[in-house]
Amino acid sequence: MKGIILAGGTATRLFPITLAISKQLLPVYDKPMIYYPLSLLMMAGIREVLIISTPTHLPAFESLLGDGSDLGMKFEYKIQEKPIGLADAFRVGEEFIGKENVALVLGDNMIYGSKMERVLKEASQLEKGGVIFGYQVADPTSYGVVEVDRVTGTAISIEEKPKIPKSNLVVPGIYFYDNDVVEIAKSLKPSGRGELEITDVNKTYMERGDLNVIPLGSGYAWFDMGSPDRLSDASDFVKAIELRQGIQIACLEEYAYKNRWINKEQVLEHAKKYDKTEYGKYLERITIDETINYEV
Ligand code: TTP
Repeated sequence: MKGIILAGGTATRLFPITLAISKQLLPVYDKPMIYYPLSLLMMAGIREVLIISTPTHLPAFESLLGDGSDLGMKFEYKIQEKPIGLADAFRVGEEFIGKENVALVLGDNMIYGSKMERVLKEASQLEKGGVIFGYQVADPTSYGVVEVDRVTGTAISIEEKPKIPKSNLVVPGIYFYDNDVVEIAKSLKPSGRGELEITDVNKTYMERGDLNVIPLGSGYAWFDMGSPDRLSDASDFVKAIELRQGIQIACLEEYAYKNRWINKEQVLEHAKKYDKTEYGKYLERITIDETINYEV
């Protein structure tokens, strides 16, 4: 399975911060924002990743992440000329996706939870159809809301910002699809607001009875970091967990090491580069103590 990070857009809700800088490179406590969605793909075991951004910002991502070889990965980059919607990722990424299945993550989304690795690995095993997540919120009215058949675990309705929601499960910005998604995306027409909607992709799979929903129950934190409040909340959250537990959230080298894409010596090379930071110290620790960040 391949992975795509959609890291373009206009980020108008963060103006004036994002007038000259990319949203997905802003700091979320101690790391650039894109580390968080990238780490989700890595947890899912995805090694080949396409990063899509605007003509202005794409070079900055290339200089941050390179070709991925120092993480034992492969990164490619592609411009989205205009921000015409999330589903455009599969058009821009058509050549990269080839004949494989693909996961899409939005460059401003973070999900944290102790079972996250297991849940993402499960989603990446998909053979046919699509897999999305259902995140429980108190007030779903400003999100995409999914209703799930409790017996089959498949979606039976998806509604954007419903006044009377049919469930309290909303859809976070990470999606897993089979290769049909490329053709589905190519056949989409722009919505009323002029965008190629991911909800329309999901509805196509739903109508085929092929959209599985993995509910994220209690114990997960999901942040869409696209507004000043959410960005600041996410930073506070990362800070609280990292300082309290002495761990790092979204430590890329940690997942590369856990997946055996890089070895101990390579982790220590990275650690040297960051030796003035907690990130660097953490990298040293994970090569010694395998119980750190241990998931039951
Ligand atoms: P949004 O937050 O919906 O849009 P935005 O980032 O342009 O922000 P704003 O509403 O403040 O103007 O986008 C979600 C993610 O998807 C974000 O990481 C940007 C990315 N994106 C693209 O890369 N291309 C697109 O065409 C769209 C719509 C979003």
